[in-house]
Parts: sequence; structure tokens; C-alpha cells
Amino acid sequence: MSQTMVSARSKTTMIVGDRSLDVAVLEVIKLESLIANDPVETTKLLEAAKSQGFFYVTCDNDLSQKISDYLRTCYLNSHEFFAKPLDEKMKAFREGMNDGYKRAGIESFEITRDEQNRTTLPSPFAEHAGATLDLLNICDTIVRTLLRSISDSLGLDESASLQNAHRPDGKSDSGLKFVSGPTKASTADVPDTTHTDGGSITLLWCEKWASQMQTKETKEWLWIDPKPNCVLVNIADYLQSQTGLHSPVHRVSQPSDGVEDRYFVSYFLRPNH
Ligand SMILES: [Fe+2]
Repeated sequence: MSQTMVSARSKTTMIVGDRSLDVAVLEVIKLESLIANDPVETTKLLEAAKSQGFFYVTCDNDLSQKISDYLRTCYLNSHEFFAKPLDEKMKAFREGMNDGYKRAGIESFEITRDEQNRTTLPSPFAEHAGATLDLLNICDTIVRTLLRSISDSLGLDESASLQNAHRPDGKSDSGLKFVSGPTKASTADVPDTTHTDGGSITLLWCEKWASQMQTKETKEWLWIDPKPNCVLVNIADYLQSQTGLHSPVHRVSQPSDGVEDRYFVSYFLRPNH
């Protein structure tokens, strides 16, 4: 339960549980307007990508409902999969690969775009392969729409376009990732996960308060509101290196004490290799 109290230009204050949080005010970009090359929306996207590097994207009602249904399935599947015994989960481990099961600090399971039709999904993802892979491809369409819009806004011609390094028929490690990051009994025990993302564009869904970002100018840590019916997007290191857009420093955290399940669904657009 949260409530907005004070608004300012770049941050606002919200009451979450028994805490007052400084929360980032981020742009909300409409996907359909980008598809239609709306100049106001594309400018808004470029400014958000240059300034804080984090923004939200919304979709039309039909797509939004579809994503919401798929996420529900993904959260249930994640709950069931990560609760399995370790030896069972390790059957989905892939040495030296981005895809598969990982337990480096936090547990995750990733399906890469390139391998989606060759990967044997573990249960219960296998029983919901249609929804899982449809979500993966919806995510891929969203990030490619963002990439094209950013590339056009930057005025890059065809030979220098960002799409050249992200050809759908080229090899990449882009993928859909499910993460189990349960909260800690005490916020004092939350590990420091400060980082930037290494790829090009990241999509993130999480139903709970889980993310903090550092502002570009003042380096102040602000919470990110897990707004319903939005996907949180951030620019990552590769795009920053190619374009001067901002790959924001961020971390996973929790605003208050108490252990509970918490699942993330992410999509990582990574360049061709
Ligand atoms: Fe990240």
C-alpha cells in the first residue's frame, strides 16, 4: 500500500508500509506512439534515455492484458521452479552459458532468444512453453521498437544505425530471465548489488518494491515505484558506449524488514557477437 505525499521535478515522496521513501519520477512512454513515430513521444524517449536512463513503457490495453496474464503465469512458474530441490534445478544448469539455471548469489533461470526453440524447458515452464516463449518474443519486439526509435531520434543513418549491431538474424545472448530474489529478515542484511547492466536495453517487471537507482547528476539513491501495467526499462552499458545515452547505476534492495518471496521477470537485449 503506498501513497504519494510530495511531488518535485525529479523525485517524489511516497509512504510504503511504515516508511517514507524518496522515489524517482520517471517518464512514461507509450509503445504505440513510438510505433507510429510520434515526434513528441520519440523526443520524450530520447530525453529519458539521455538523462536518467530509466523510464517506464506502457502498451495498449490488449497487449497490456496479454503481458499481465503471461506475467501471472511466469510468477507462478517461478515460485514452483525455484522451490524445487537443488539437484532438480541443477538439471537446467548450462556451464559457461547465459541460458539455463544459475545460483550465483541469487537464483535465476534464463531462456535465450536464439535457443528458444532448441532449449528443453524444465517443468513447470515446459507446460507453459507457449505463454513463456510468446512473452519472450513480445519483449524482443518492445526492445527493438525502443532501439529503432532511439536510433532514428539520434539521426543515425542506415550504415550507423543501432539496429546493425542488433540484427534479429545475427547471433546474440538476448534473453528472458526469471529471478528469485527473496527479501531478508532485516534490511541490514541486504547485500550490496550496485551495478550497471552490460547489454543494450533491459526490461524489468517486479510486483514489489525492489529497485533503487542513482541519479545521474547528484548520485542520490532513489526508489523505483513498481507501477502496475508498466514495464521498467533501462539503458545498458553497450548503448551508453555507442551513443552517449546513460546506463544508470542501480541496485536491488527492500524498503522494510521481513522475508517474503519476490520474483523478477527481465528481458535483456544484447548486441550481436
Ligand atoms: Fe540490473
